[in-house]
Amino acid sequence: MAKRFMSFLLCISLTITFLFTPSSSAFTFVCDPARFDQLQLKITSFAFCDSSLPYPVRAKDLVDQMTLAEKVQQLGNKAAGVQRLGLPPYEWWSEALHGVSNTGPGVRFDNVVPGATNFPTIILTVATFNESLWKNIAEVISTEARAMYNMERAGLTFWSPTINVVRDPRWGRITETPGEDPFVVGRYAVNFVRGLQDVEGHEIHKDLNARPLKVSACCKHYNAYDIDRWRGVDRFHFDARVTEQDMLETFTPPFEMCVREGDASSVMCSYNRVNGVPTCADPKLLNQTIRGEWDLHGYIVADCDSIEVFVNKHKFLNDTSEDGVARTLKAGLDLDCGVTYPNALINATNQGKVRETDIDRALKYLYVVLMRLGYFDGSLVYKSLGKANVCTPQNIELAAEAARQGIVLLKNDDHTLPLNPANVKTLAVVGPHGNATTPMRGNYAGIPCRYTTPLDGFSSYTKVNYSIGCEDVFCKENILIPPAVETAKSASATVILVGLNLTIEAEDLDRETLLLPGFQTQLINDATQAAQGPVILVIMSAGCVDITFAKNNPKIKSILWAGFPGEEGGRAIADTVFGRNNPGGRLPITWYKADYIDKIPMTSMPLRPVGNFPGRTYKFFNGPVVYPFGYGLSYTQFKYNLAPSNRSVGIKLNRLHHCRPINYMGGIQPPPCASVLLADLPCNETFEVEMGVQNVGNMDGSEVVLVYSKPPKGIPGTHMKQVIGFQRVFVTRGQNVNVKFVFNVCKSLGIVDYAANRLLTSGRHTILVGDAGVATPVDVNLFN
Ligand SMILES: *[C@@H]1O[C@H](CO)[C@@H](O)[C@H](O)[C@H]1NC(C)=O
Ligand SMILES: *[C@@H]1O[C@H](CO)[C@@H](O)[C@H](O)[C@H]1NC(C)=O
Ligand SMILES: *[C@@H]1O[C@H](CO)[C@@H](O)[C@H](O)[C@H]1NC(C)=O
Ligand SMILES: *[C@@H]1O[C@H](CO)[C@@H](O)[C@H](O)[C@H]1NC(C)=O
Ligand SMILES: *[C@@H]1O[C@H](CO)[C@@H](O)[C@H](O)[C@H]1NC(C)=O
Ligand SMILES: *[C@@H]1O[C@H](CO)[C@@H](O)[C@H](O)[C@H]1NC(C)=O
Ligand SMILES: *[C@@H]1O[C@H](CO)[C@@H](O)[C@H](O)[C@H]1NC(C)=O
Ligand SMILES: *[C@@H]1O[C@H](CO)[C@@H](O)[C@H](O)[C@H]1NC(C)=O
Ligand SMILES: *[C@@H]1O[C@H](CO)[C@@H](O)[C@H](O)[C@H]1NC(C)=O
Repeated sequence: MAKRFMSFLLCISLTITFLFTPSSSAFTFVCDPARFDQLQLKITSFAFCDSSLPYPVRAKDLVDQMTLAEKVQQLGNKAAGVQRLGLPPYEWWSEALHGVSNTGPGVRFDNVVPGATNFPTIILTVATFNESLWKNIAEVISTEARAMYNMERAGLTFWSPTINVVRDPRWGRITETPGEDPFVVGRYAVNFVRGLQDVEGHEIHKDLNARPLKVSACCKHYNAYDIDRWRGVDRFHFDARVTEQDMLETFTPPFEMCVREGDASSVMCSYNRVNGVPTCADPKLLNQTIRGEWDLHGYIVADCDSIEVFVNKHKFLNDTSEDGVARTLKAGLDLDCGVTYPNALINATNQGKVRETDIDRALKYLYVVLMRLGYFDGSLVYKSLGKANVCTPQNIELAAEAARQGIVLLKNDDHTLPLNPANVKTLAVVGPHGNATTPMRGNYAGIPCRYTTPLDGFSSYTKVNYSIGCEDVFCKENILIPPAVETAKSASATVILVGLNLTIEAEDLDRETLLLPGFQTQLINDATQAAQGPVILVIMSAGCVDITFAKNNPKIKSILWAGFPGEEGGRAIADTVFGRNNPGGRLPITWYKADYIDKIPMTSMPLRPVGNFPGRTYKFFNGPVVYPFGYGLSYTQFKYNLAPSNRSVGIKLNRLHHCRPINYMGGIQPPPCASVLLADLPCNETFEVEMGVQNVGNMDGSEVVLVYSKPPKGIPGTHMKQVIGFQRVFVTRGQNVNVKFVFNVCKSLGIVDYAANRLLTSGRHTILVGDAGVATPVDVNLFN
């Protein structure tokens, strides 16, 4: 009875609350006077709300008013806030790798915001080699993010992009990354971060601690992180043994570009160890490099539960939680995605292992970022963004455009593509990805605005007969192949859509084979064999697939790689097959042959060949491949007209510059001054490469001009070539467009030697344009 009475009262009081409390108004910004009134706090007594003061001063004022217990509660991703100071809780963890994503707890979708624009996964977007597109995509993502923030459905701090270099074709997270070339990865990082963070008119700023941010980006996962789970080795336990040469040359440059050129406001350290030390506990990697050398304006965050992982899984030096947090805090780690900082920092301080000022320093970095985001003072620029700015027709169109620009044409015998819809009475659409939805979306995805499947896309051109051919992507049985064969037999053309999905390559899941799963190969061969009309093969995957059988099958006229093309992927594929889009994408990774992975374990980190292991990436592997890095055809043909010229760069050394000898191979006579340390040079010399790109085919199209440099012959252990620049240009049929590159001598011709010296070498360097053998020399002459 009493109980019933109680619940009756409770019910009344809830009703009363519901009826009579003014519905608690939406969160605006911390220093909103109305908020402080509601909290019965006097805003004028809090200097951190005084917008006339510099952010670091305000951040210090805020931190100085907190007790130690309050401070440590702000150092996990779920920052608790401090009610008595008017500081609300904040969830730091939001994600936006290729669209606002609910992978982190900071974002949610519901009936108010049911979805956000889902762009292709990064590996396909990078295949466009179109820097302005990369930036545009990030601008659209940050606009949607800001709109969702205004509706309290997203945070302001997004832990994207992923910028680890693809070292091994088995890696499950290739889909998230910009590929295998460190320079391309770095350029992607810079454009994406600028698109996410930059507020128009504030791209440059005299005080980077005051530069406003649209949303905050995060370069991850730092560093040498590219094993997820392979034959019993997982990322949590893996100790990456990396030479300093590979660190400087391959793993670190994208992060340096992300911070220095992108001005990213955050970096995330990874789970793995590098040479025995967990990255999040390494003062050299964090404080010395990111803060010291690169001058980060922002915060360093641990990958989720990283500290917990190294305390309880690595058991590095048998740390207690208190030892662990002391170690990471001192190394320069500011924020824990997890609870180890909030749980262990008080005791660590009490045990004398941590200085409170180190905690304060971390907090100040965090609050300055939030201030730059307008979290404390509000944002006039973005205030009006809301539901109407999410999933707009233009944003959805950009997702389709990105997929169209990224799709790579791998084979096109007899100019079979594009198909003319008038000649295709019925199109057979065959294969487990024929009506793909979620596989197109990729990982770290949100809920898309909608899907346009391949079936939808093709149906807008002609009559389609669809036959799945396999029960699913694994294709473990072949019973559905005969009906697919029948479908192909009766149609005027056949498109076969096969490939991988996130159950085969993903976070925490590396690949065991580079071949197509199950009976997919048989499906392709049988359908091709029976088909009356032309056969087009479309591969959806992030990593490479050894499709040598299809490349060599004369009945398979055309092959397209479509990555994981995002919510509008089906439209982009159909537009490409039917010629509304002329493909211009290029592979951002090497497509190795299947036996490559038998020759080298995933755990072997060196990029150069060692022992019997082959080298890695186009820079160091010269064995046979299915398709090389940078490969991609067009429906038209391009011709480069590069005026012959012998460029020479003379650099006069002074008496403080010392020539470094290099042991040349095979009796080649080294130049008198073989090399000099880059660090000793002003590095202001440039050289130009200009060329005409002529469209000599029958269709308008875009060409990706890839420029490589090759070091002088005879220097042992150098890369075979490396990308130094790229531009995507649109050229109408019959026209010529001039493309000009200006290269910095040190950045474009420098090498990293075995002892991790950055050197400029004397001698004849070669500049290669594309893969067609167009080359021009640059002579570097170091003299006294
Ligand atoms: C690059 O992408 C942009 C869209 O952001 C597009 O307008 C432009 O045409 C593309 N460039 C080329 C050469 O395809
Ligand atoms: C970080 O490095 C700087 C020098 O770059 C040094 O002054 C500072 O004490 C270091 N901080 C910590 C916590 O080690
Ligand atoms: C950690 O503890 C284990 C078992 O107690 C011991 O064998 C090992 O040597 C210790 N490691 C270090 C680095 O102290
Ligand atoms: C902190 O230390 C006290 C006293 O040693 C202990 O009782 C408590 O469990 C510790 N707290 C945490 C979160 O480890
Ligand atoms: C294609 O996929 C959509 C969305 O999952 C589904 O509604 C439709 O029935 C599928 N079409 C066929 C022919 O399987
Ligand atoms: C991948 O495909 C398999 C087989 O179709 C399916 O069971 C699995 O759910 C798919 N994975 C994802 C993440 O879509
Ligand atoms: C579609 O394919 C089936 C075999 O799967 C075939 O029996 C049927 O005739 C085809 N339909 C058309 C309209 O071509
Ligand atoms: C460039 O150098 C090569 C090799 O030294 C020489 O054969 C050629 O004539 C030079 N070309 C020009 C345009 O100077
Ligand atoms: C490069 O800088 C040095 C020293 O500042 C200066 O003497 C030289 O003229 C500059 N060279 C070029 C090509 O700008």
